[in-house]
Amino acid sequence: MKVCVLGGDGYCGWATALYLSRRGHQVAIADNFARRLWDHELGVQTLTPVRPMPERLRAWRRIGGENIEFMAGDVTDYEFMSSVIRSFSPDAVVHFAEQRAAPYSMIDRKHAVFTQVNNVVGTLNLLFALREFRPDCHLVKLGTMGEYGTPNIDIEEGYIAIEHNGRKDVLPFPKQPGSFYHLSKVHDSHNIMFACKIWGLRATDLNQGVVYGTMTEEVALDDALINRFDYDEIFGTVLNRFCAQAAVGHPLTVYGRGGQTRGYLDIRDTVRCVELACLKPARAGECRVFNQFTEQFSVLELAHMVQAAGRNLNLHVEIDHLPDPRVEAEEHYYNARHSKLVEMGLKPHLLSESLLDSLLNIAIRYQDRIDRSLFMPRVNWRNARNDRQPKGMPHAAGSPYEYEAPLEASVVPAKGNGSFKQGG
Ligand SMILES: NC(=O)c1ccc[n+]([C@@H]2O[C@H](COP(=O)([O-])OP(=O)(O)OC[C@H]3O[C@@H](n4cnc5c(N)ncnc54)[C@H](O)[C@@H]3O)[C@@H](O)[C@H]2O)c1
Repeated sequence: MKVCVLGGDGYCGWATALYLSRRGHQVAIADNFARRLWDHELGVQTLTPVRPMPERLRAWRRIGGENIEFMAGDVTDYEFMSSVIRSFSPDAVVHFAEQRAAPYSMIDRKHAVFTQVNNVVGTLNLLFALREFRPDCHLVKLGTMGEYGTPNIDIEEGYIAIEHNGRKDVLPFPKQPGSFYHLSKVHDSHNIMFACKIWGLRATDLNQGVVYGTMTEEVALDDALINRFDYDEIFGTVLNRFCAQAAVGHPLTVYGRGGQTRGYLDIRDTVRCVELACLKPARAGECRVFNQFTEQFSVLELAHMVQAAGRNLNLHVEIDHLPDPRVEAEEHYYNARHSKLVEMGLKPHLLSESLLDSLLNIAIRYQDRIDRSLFMPRVNWRNARNDRQPKGMPHAAGSPYEYEAPLEASVVPAKGNGSFKQGG
């Protein structure tokens, strides 16, 4: 199968591209390296030394991997987006290419606007490119469990059967997202659903939980294939951050009482879920939704688990409760269904002490790269403007904070037929 991975330089996208390539699929990646730019903007970096894309692709070829085509460009640039679809003619497009940090979207107006333009316009461009050039192609879109919020009823997989004033219907499950980023994902979901309805496109919206871990079988094959491990307050997902904190003896930063409960999954399950969705595409006109997570935990439960796993490695781990910078319920009901991917064949990797040991060991291995000043939350949901300037950097006109959404600019223009090959 020909699969195009948009956002393939990122955390989930890189692991997915390698996984699919190793299983015999013909893979092309598109990315504009925006994420590397945002790291620079905020003065943060992944714990692991992620290599530049050409080096990543050379390493994949060196160990015998099939050629992965790479296309550099911005999905919000329609010329680029449509050239990717025309030149590669994918059977499936997996769309990861979005700004995915809720705190980033809550820094100030510019970051909120940027996030929504980047995400919504990129997805709209993709829908139009599919309609024009590849209407049978299956869109596999990464959404998030955060689209649902935390309702006081069970969360269904995308749709809910409702009886109202004696009439029945099956309707999209209500969405109550908790940040401008999560709102962008809701807007995407609506646009995708609408495009399936009016144009007969086929789509799978994967409402993913919080991902943890960094190793997949493929990433472990060579140091140069190493994946991201974000631990900072903006991009760091909570379990990865707790492991980095434990490794350097910093108290685990639990926001509020820590009763915030969410769905979680191992990155090895992310890649498998995407493959399962690709192998059994949605029907023409169908927009199906799967809840992509394997277990649910509260933040405090995770902190206690890291504390216990740290003990095995002779780490003394303390837990701090900070005022919650987010506007969210600190204790609430949470019960979300997640059976469709399991019915399709997913065998979950559940969070065990051994996995936590290996996560902690990665954090210990790279502890020299940990900047403790990046642990503490500096973006408060209640403010319209947060000072998230990297330490020591003066505010200046033209700083990365001043940019507007690069609506028509691709970082590296697509060449010729819209692609260039690397790694061969
Ligand atoms: N990581 C998680 O825990 C998690 C949880 C739920 C959902 N998701 C979703 O999965 C997707 C991938 O997340 P991730 O953690 O891999 O993020 P990431 O930031 O590591 O990767 C995203 C990639 O997309 C690229 N990108 C962003 N905007 C682009 C644009 N306009 N044009 C081209 N490339 C662009 C970035 O450069 C980056 O390489 C996102 O859509 C996110 O919302 C992630």
